[in-house]
Amino acid sequence: MTDRSVTYGSYLAVDELLALQRPRSTGPEHDEMLFIVIHQVYELWFKQVLHEVDHVVDLLGAREPHRAQHTLKRILTILKVLVAQLDILETMTPLEFQSFRARLEAASGFQSDQFRQLEFVLGNKSKAAIERFAAGSRARTALERRFTRPTLWDAFLQYLSREGYDVPHNALTRDVTARIEASAELQETLIDLYNRDPKNAEMCERLVDLDEGLQEWRYRHVKMVQRTIGAKAGTGGSSGAQYLATTLMTPIFPDLWEIRSRL
Ligand code: HEM
Repeated sequence: MTDRSVTYGSYLAVDELLALQRPRSTGPEHDEMLFIVIHQVYELWFKQVLHEVDHVVDLLGAREPHRAQHTLKRILTILKVLVAQLDILETMTPLEFQSFRARLEAASGFQSDQFRQLEFVLGNKSKAAIERFAAGSRARTALERRFTRPTLWDAFLQYLSREGYDVPHNALTRDVTARIEASAELQETLIDLYNRDPKNAEMCERLVDLDEGLQEWRYRHVKMVQRTIGAKAGTGGSSGAQYLATTLMTPIFPDLWEIRSRL
């Protein structure tokens, strides 16, 4: 074997990866390592989820519903891991977190640009979220790019239209930077689809899984926050659990929920 042959370590950049955990507390405090590792693992999974969601958008554009569904299934499986990972962090007690929390200063998951990118591609876009990042930074460039791009829902509606469904014109030409609003007209089309098209109804169900999965993560995150810091303000400057509670129970795809009482 020559020095230049690929190894496990060189392929995965293990040396670089293992040099990236840099606790700030003195000692350092034992639990800070877990806190860093968990967040880094989240960021890697966010990267993968974004990669897969972009793929779903492309596959819908190419009218490849089976592959799109297969990819959605992968995203859902990752989401389950993301939710389950919170169990690990919940083994950290309030006092253990307190031992290094001050060293986080104003740093917070609130500043995760990849989480915001995910929200953007799912239809929750905001200019304010972009402006929190420095002009020209990787994060801002990525968010700016996603801001004007169609969301997963837009890609799905275009796909349905090409499948011959009567998708309202204003839904197909909507402002892709705006929040996804429920549409009574579109709901009629979706109800019809559910009743006579099991293939595409299955796709709708996977989108509901995605929606529910993200809401589940939000709920578990806020419960973890409550048990770890109670009603204290967040390091990111918000009111903490109180702010996070306002993000719960907001569906990503409102039409897919509203039709349920009529199915
Ligand atoms: C002890 C663990 C954690 C605590 C106490 C905590 C606390 C908080 C608080 C208080 C906020 C509100 C913003 C602020 O003022 O800071 C927040 C937001 C957020 N956190 Fe955490 N967090 C924890 C772990 C995590 C982990 C592991 C992730 C994974 C990436 C994460 C991702 C986020 C995200 C994405 C937001 C923004 C949510 C939104 O604006 O809808 N947090 N967190």
